Amino acid sequence: MKTVVVSAVFFCCLALATATQYSCKAQAVQFPAFKSMENECIALMKHQVQKELNAALTYLAMAAHFSEDQVNRPGFAKMFFESANEEREHAIKFIEYLLMRGELETDIKDLISDPYPVRGLTWDSGLAALKNALALEVNVTKSINEIIKKCENPDVGENDYHLVDYLTGEFLDEQYKGQRELAGQISTLGKMTKSLGDLGEYMFDKKLLDGELPVLG
Ligand SMILES: *[C@@H]1O[C@H](CO)[C@@H](O)[C@H](O)[C@H]1NC(C)=O
Ligand SMILES: [Fe+2]
Repeated sequence: MKTVVVSAVFFCCLALATATQYSCKAQAVQFPAFKSMENECIALMKHQVQKELNAALTYLAMAAHFSEDQVNRPGFAKMFFESANEEREHAIKFIEYLLMRGELETDIKDLISDPYPVRGLTWDSGLAALKNALALEVNVTKSINEIIKKCENPDVGENDYHLVDYLTGEFLDEQYKGQRELAGQISTLGKMTKSLGDLGEYMFDKKLLDGELPVLG
């Protein structure tokens, strides 16, 4: 027993010593300045990470709602789980963009620390959730447009051509296609439920589940 305790203590000390030995004491390497993003744009891009995560959480809450046994719309649940994953991917893309430009050094975890109140959100129908989703996407599009406008002509500094091009080509394209897709779904589901009530929503849900609705993105 004594041996076991002694060995345990020995290995703990060894582990500590090893950890200390390998802690990073290397001096920062010097290289010519290459970072070129304006502070205003860095701040807006960081803020966008949280917005994408808020969208991801909203879609996750929708997916959970439509999965409940009393709601039971597996097609809506599937679509919103996928949307949540896409928004999470967007947040990662914004982080990766900042890293590529060398503009994320010390406060990476602060990008994802804001709490977001999804607890109070409710949707009393599939149509209500789709309308909420479209309003959410419109907000995201607006905020991406604001970054483009600002960084095309910052208050201080230079036009960030690469950032503006990236946001326009990569994100706005997807936003506009996604918005049109949601508008089409709202139109179709709106007509179906008007004439068929809950049966219309049930049929629409089956179409979503079977992947039989057009996907524009
Ligand atoms: C969109 O933004 C407006 C203004 O900031 C806000 O009041 C509204 O709740 C947002 N809508 C959604 C669905 O997030
Ligand atoms: Fe997004």
